[in-house]
Amino acid sequence: RALNMDELKKQAAWKAVEYVKSGDVVGLGTGSTAAFAVDRIGDLLSSGELKDIVGVPTSVRTYEQAKGRGIPLATLSEQPKLDVAIDGADEVDPNLDVVKGRGGALLREKMVEQASAKFVCIVDDSKLVEGLGGSKDAMPVEIVQFCHEYTLKRLQALPEVAGAEAKLRMDGGKPYVTDNHNFIVDLYFQEPLKEPHAAAKAIAAVEGVVEHGLFLDMVDVCIIAGANGVEVRDR
Ligand code: A5P
Repeated sequence: RALNMDELKKQAAWKAVEYVKSGDVVGLGTGSTAAFAVDRIGDLLSSGELKDIVGVPTSVRTYEQAKGRGIPLATLSEQPKLDVAIDGADEVDPNLDVVKGRGGALLREKMVEQASAKFVCIVDDSKLVEGLGGSKDAMPVEIVQFCHEYTLKRLQALPEVAGAEAKLRMDGGKPYVTDNHNFIVDLYFQEPLKEPHAAAKAIAAVEGVVEHGLFLDMVDVCIIAGANGVEVRDR
């Protein structure tokens, strides 16, 4: 019987939690896969198998979940050096470069994960792509609200995104607002990015852009759950 998606996400998440040791400062990701890791860390703390963990959440949602699970929490300002961060992704390419942020938490995720000695990315194998942008789904860019139509047009016009379609993310008839009170432009690439680093640089250089969902050279370990088991890939 094929394992369902939640079962795969949970397998990847539980495997990732094996990288957490007592005393660690742990980045807590956002999304349906990362939620299984947060629950697991909460359970291991309750049972006493893990001790003295401090979690640094990457969204308000994850903060609420972790708090509910009794995980002691801190901000990145209070704990600027993390031992390990665990988070999902929307796309993973063969270099372990990833797209993140379809859940809207990309800015805090990137801040926390770049501060972590080890970033463990957890996915089910439906997230694997040959090139970033390859799923034809959104690559999110967080932008300031001020003149967002202008910023959207500038993003769409970048040669490095090669004719991507840009759409302001909506939420019930209004623009979606991030935890940081910004908007999100979703870029839909025509074809996988040939030069993700060039695209990342060009997108980041547009004034009004706060952060983008290309997480390049950041993942240290990727845990991929599929019907045939859990695979661990190191960079
Ligand atoms: C949140 O902003 C995202 O970066 C998530 O980590 C990503 O969307 C993966 O979410 P799922 O685990 O729910 O697919």
